[in-house]
Amino acid sequence: MNIPMVDIKRQFLEVKDEVYREWENVFEKMQLMLGENVRAFEEEFSSYCGCRYGIGVNSGTDALVLSIHALIPEGSAGVITPSFTFFATPESIVLTNNIPVFVDIEPETLTIDTEKLSSFLSSLERNRKGHPVYKGITIKAIIPVHLFGNPARMDRIIEISREYNLKIIEDSAQSHGAEYKGKKTGCFGDASAFSFYMSKNLSAIGDAGMITTNNEELAEKMMRLRIHGQIEKYRHRDIGYNSRLDEIQAVVLRAKLKRLEKWNKRRNDIARIYLKKLKDLPIELPHILHDSKQVWHMFWLKCRERDKLLEYLRDNGIGAAVHYPLPCHLQKPLKDYPVVTDMEITEKTSQNILCIPIHQHMEDNEVFYIIETLRKFYK
Ligand SMILES: Cc1ncc(COP(=O)(O)O)c(C=O)c1O
Repeated sequence: MNIPMVDIKRQFLEVKDEVYREWENVFEKMQLMLGENVRAFEEEFSSYCGCRYGIGVNSGTDALVLSIHALIPEGSAGVITPSFTFFATPESIVLTNNIPVFVDIEPETLTIDTEKLSSFLSSLERNRKGHPVYKGITIKAIIPVHLFGNPARMDRIIEISREYNLKIIEDSAQSHGAEYKGKKTGCFGDASAFSFYMSKNLSAIGDAGMITTNNEELAEKMMRLRIHGQIEKYRHRDIGYNSRLDEIQAVVLRAKLKRLEKWNKRRNDIARIYLKKLKDLPIELPHILHDSKQVWHMFWLKCRERDKLLEYLRDNGIGAAVHYPLPCHLQKPLKDYPVVTDMEITEKTSQNILCIPIHQHMEDNEVFYIIETLRKFYK
């Protein structure tokens, strides 16, 4: 058996007829960028998240960059981020001339540790605007990451951000449809960045992303920023970017969005089977917080002899993978930025985490094959 981590082909086959039909209309009109499908998708996806505005962009990375740029145009600020995330999160902070400030994660949810964060912030002096200042760096924002489809503790993050006058940019690249206390991720922060890269729960057939926000002024600014800061043809108000979403991707995303709830439910059903059938093995499994709806972008486990298990699974045709083997604060281009809490959980997790396939098109026999293979390894 061969079970990949992501199966874009099976996913595409489900929407193919609808997508081909709509593509014909697009090619008939030849309005290829920021056209009617992009506008419709912005409206449909932002309403799905419970947000007023959606701004379609080129990628999740651009969604982060434009959000940070719009919220901290002056740059040179400290932006708090977990280190256990994909490189693009802190990278976008550096790209906007700001400074990533690294904090540890919690062991159960793998999202930012709000207790460590709060005790760090409470140790700092504040400036006149109430921003905490760390070694001359004024901290102005926080980027919680809803990692692997699991929402960060947003109520605590909102409390902390109010206390310290911090902007919140959610990194929702992995959490389409996830909920925290009954509200979808993507509508808690000043802005939220989504990726529709091909491996994501909602994915394009190339790169694509979106920013969601409830702030009208900010939405207008980010709509300008994605097209060179333009206010009308050849008149520019800001130095911006070229980060437009195209119609080809928007058609695919609209078709898949209609199926996202069904697909997330299937991921959840598979996760429940894994949790039940693997619970007696000598591995640590994800905890489900009672106030969150996880969307299982990844299913992780923590184990001893991780690399041996990884090899065994791969030898048996299972596309297991390590997300992420080296935390961001230890990556060469980021290693000189401040690390302000201990990194015990981040570093330990990188050494013993393993992700096994979970996607909506997996058949039950594939799920049980993975379970059997894991059980054989531990026999
Ligand atoms: C947590 C996180 N943030 C940001 C990104 C960047 O998104 P993109 O690849 O669409 O630029 C990703 C994508 O992999 C991600 O997983």
